[in-house]
Amino acid sequence: MVSTSTQIAGFHFENCLMNAAGIYCMTKEELMEIENSQAGSFITKTGTLEARSGNPEPRYSATSLGSINSMGLPNLGFHYYLDFVRELEKEESSKNHFLSVVGLSPDETHLILKEIQASDYQGLVELNLSCPNVPGKPQIAYDFEMTENILSDIFSYYKKPLGIKLPPYFDIVHFDQAASIFNKFPLSFVNCINSIGNGLVIDDEQVVIKPKQGFGGIGGDYIKPTALANVHAFYQRLNPSIQIIGTGGVKSGRDAFEHILCGASMVQIGTALQEEGPAIFSRILKELEEIMLEKGYHSLEDFRGKLHYLS
Ligand code: SIN
Repeated sequence: MVSTSTQIAGFHFENCLMNAAGIYCMTKEELMEIENSQAGSFITKTGTLEARSGNPEPRYSATSLGSINSMGLPNLGFHYYLDFVRELEKEESSKNHFLSVVGLSPDETHLILKEIQASDYQGLVELNLSCPNVPGKPQIAYDFEMTENILSDIFSYYKKPLGIKLPPYFDIVHFDQAASIFNKFPLSFVNCINSIGNGLVIDDEQVVIKPKQGFGGIGGDYIKPTALANVHAFYQRLNPSIQIIGTGGVKSGRDAFEHILCGASMVQIGTALQEEGPAIFSRILKELEEIMLEKGYHSLEDFRGKLHYLS
């Protein structure tokens, strides 16, 4: 018998697989497709203070190695998602979930989080500090001073379990600097990584998405090595109380296994879920269980973070 069950901040999940924010999570109907699949949980589309229609279409394109998107945070407003998870979690049989949010300014972020703090929602919240696609709004987590200030203000009033979605970092010094900031706060988790921001995909002589003259976040096969590096770098540096969610380039049980080996407690699926649909969860779960069985691992704890180095 192998178990892929896991927990984040004391919340139990039957297995460690779920969608990445942005994929199958815009509407209640899409979220229910994930809820009714083999996924261990779902995360909502990042909700802003007001609903947004996002960037002009086409704004997502699949490629042979992954995807490019510049969605621009289209969403139905954070109240829609907050109300939905509150309702769903009243059912005793409900899974635990993640609510993704961010404001378009620090003030908006505080308004959102203060409202969640005041609500009866007791579940997990992921603050998206890494969206690369809103014109004129930089990825917050690339500005260390602003990140520290926002987290410091948030934790002066926010007392519920909170994690952050991070962009990829590419330099060892940046891993060190970011981790030393995150370690100052009672974060429940960090999620590594959002898409690699502002890539370009070209078909013949033309870009493939409309917003930002074709610049967009890259996902899929292209980003797995960067995702694994970020998961492991933060696993090595963060206080053990800050768990890691691994996201990026997962389309097989082997990919999920590698994220866990690097230190992930939960694994999110983005581009491959978009392309294959929610049936992907049972396939990847089966492949992960087969790998664990073959290696004699009974639980994720048997190999989480236990990446081998060359001596
Ligand atoms: C988007 O809506 O632009 C994608 C979300 C994200 O990358 O955070």
